[in-house]
Amino acid sequence: MAMDIEAARRTPPKEVVVRVRRYDPETKKTWWQEFKVEARRGMTVLDALLKIKEEQDHTLVLRYSCRQGICGSCGMVINGTPRLACQTQLAEVASEARPVITVEPLYNFPVIRDLVTNFTEFFNKHRSVKPYLIRKDKEEQENPKGQYDMFPDEYYQIYQYSSCVYCGLCYAACPVVAADPQFLGPQALMYALRFVNDVRDEAWGERLIMVDTEHGCHRCHFAASCSAVCPKAVDPAGAIQALRSKVFKYRLHLFKRRVSKVIGPPPEKGERVPLPPEATLLPGVDLKKLEQEPVVIQLPPE
Ligand code: SF4
Ligand code: SF4
Ligand code: FES
Repeated sequence: MAMDIEAARRTPPKEVVVRVRRYDPETKKTWWQEFKVEARRGMTVLDALLKIKEEQDHTLVLRYSCRQGICGSCGMVINGTPRLACQTQLAEVASEARPVITVEPLYNFPVIRDLVTNFTEFFNKHRSVKPYLIRKDKEEQENPKGQYDMFPDEYYQIYQYSSCVYCGLCYAACPVVAADPQFLGPQALMYALRFVNDVRDEAWGERLIMVDTEHGCHRCHFAASCSAVCPKAVDPAGAIQALRSKVFKYRLHLFKRRVSKVIGPPPEKGERVPLPPEATLLPGVDLKKLEQEPVVIQLPPE
C-alpha cells in the first residue's frame, strides 16, 4: 500500500479516539482500550501511539525504530488493514464523520504483548529458501578477485524484490497463511524468486524444488491481498505466479538462465566505466546519452 502523501496535507479531526487491542501475556487477557488523542496535521498513527504511551499509559507496548518506513518494524493492523504505523497519517484513517481508529497486532503472528508480535516463524520461513548467493566457485566467493557482472535488465529482475523491508504485512494479510500455518507465505516465496532470478546465483534448482511442495507456491490462491498491503510495492502475489511458471519449466527441463561471470577488480576512484555492448537498458534510459557520457563512479572522499 503506497504512502498517501496527500493525507499529510489534510488536517485530521481535532480529537481522534484510538481503540487499541491489548494483550497481557501474564494473565493471557485480551481487551480493547480507548484513548483520546489531540491530533494535528502530519501526525501519524505511530505518533499518536507514542503520545498515548508518553502522556496516558506507559504500559502500552509497541515496536518501532526508524519512523520513516525503512526498518519495517512498526507493522500493525489499522482499521482492519495491515499497515506501517509510521507511514499512516491519522488524516488517512480518521475523518470528522468517523474520528475513531482501531489498532491491532499483526494477524497470523503470535502476539507477545499488546502490539508486539513474534516474527520467529516468519524469519524461519524466509531462511528456509536460503536468501543468500550460492555459487559453485567457492574459492572466488571466499577470496574474491573481481566482481560478478550483471546487466541492467538483469538487475531489473531482482530490484523490486530487493526492496522488501521484512515488515510482514503481506504475511498478515494472507488468508492462506491463516488457514495453513505451514504455508511458506508471500515473503519467503517472493524471496525465493528474487534469488532464482539473480544471475549471480547458481542454486535455482535447489530453490525451485524447495518451493514445489504442498505448502509451497502451489498453495497460493492468488487473492493478491499480500500485494495490496505491501508498503514497498514489491508485489509478492505476482512473484509467486512467476515462481510457479519457473517451477513448471524446471520440471520439464526447460528452465535456463545466464550465470554471471567474474570480471576485473572494482573501478578505481573517478575511472570511466563504458557500458557493456550487450547491455539492455531499463525503460526510460537514454542509451545514446549514456554512451556519450559514460558512467563515472563517484566514491566518497577517503
Ligand atoms: S496471493 Fe497468495 S500469498 Fe498473496 S495473499 Fe493471496 S494467497 Fe497469500
Ligand atoms: S513483501 Fe512487502 S509487505 Fe511483505 S515483508 Fe516485504 S515489504 Fe513487507
Ligand atoms: S518505524 Fe521503521 S518502518 Fe515504521
